[in-house]
Amino acid sequence: MTQKKPNLRPEIDFDSLLSQGANTYDSAVGHWWHSRSMDLPHRRAYKHIAESTLAFCQAKSLQPKMILDYACGSGAILGDLLQAFPKAHLIGLDGSRQLLQGVAKSHPDLSELLDQHDAFHAFTKPVSLALTSLPNFRLPEQLCDLVFLIFPNLVPDPKHLGEFNRHGYCNKKDNEVARMLARFREMDPDDETVTMDPEDFFDELMTARVFSRNLRHLLRPGGMLVRVEYSQANRTELTDLTQWRSLFGEGALETPIKGEKCESFFRVVDSEYRKSKVIQDVFHQTGDPDDKIGGYMLTAFEAI
Ligand SMILES: C[S@@+](CC[C@H](N)C(=O)[O-])C[C@H]1O[C@@H](n2cnc3c(N)ncnc32)[C@H](O)[C@@H]1O
Repeated sequence: MTQKKPNLRPEIDFDSLLSQGANTYDSAVGHWWHSRSMDLPHRRAYKHIAESTLAFCQAKSLQPKMILDYACGSGAILGDLLQAFPKAHLIGLDGSRQLLQGVAKSHPDLSELLDQHDAFHAFTKPVSLALTSLPNFRLPEQLCDLVFLIFPNLVPDPKHLGEFNRHGYCNKKDNEVARMLARFREMDPDDETVTMDPEDFFDELMTARVFSRNLRHLLRPGGMLVRVEYSQANRTELTDLTQWRSLFGEGALETPIKGEKCESFFRVVDSEYRKSKVIQDVFHQTGDPDDKIGGYMLTAFEAI
């Protein structure tokens, strides 16, 4: 007799919880994320991300003084970053009070919960934490040398539609390019990864681009952004269309689409793929067994 394998997905209604905005993780999702981010595959991934970034900075003779973790969650990478960059000041921003209070409580000597202005200007400990809904264009401009966006899962806040509209969501050229990228389909239907309606996909592309504008807002010119996303391959192995769609959202698309060229505010400088069980975070949310295999992709961008 064959034994049925247990289904190890947590019983969390991700679909409804992940539509509730910046404080979505003040819920069962936050408890789920806290335990995921502390397990061995995640701890290995955070160590690798910090060490790879350090090696990259050394190769380019960069010595970051102000490092920001955008949507830092339970702050699981902060210890690795402090070890890799002992002279830098670290800032962690997130919309979840529950997760930030957890970080401050477990590292009282190293971290303090401050308001968003003091986190950049009036800190007394190596790590400042600040509660904020993201994107936030009122945060100090161009102060950071290095910004991380790791396993983002950003949930746009329905209360902050105005912030999106004021910061590029309605940009005419971007809208034209996003509409084409949302409508185009892969030449080989087996390569198509997008199943959603073009209007929803358009919204996803434009929303991603506003978050990227906010990341650029925080970085000084020449500063570095490290994005780490769940993936099943390195970006260079993906089809042209999939790469253009990602680059558009990242603010780094240099290729004109049907003669239309939108503004680039980042340039890709390096990327790396690593197999890892962290991909199972995606399986927990989708329940699709294909999402059990893969890892993460780390991309370094220069702010231009
Ligand atoms: C999957 S967790 C990743 C956390 C962290 N980067 C890590 O690797 O541990 C996503 C984080 O994004 C935060 N978040 C999602 N949407 C947000 C928003 N609109 N504003 C602020 N934080 C948000 C959540 O609170 C959560 O901590």
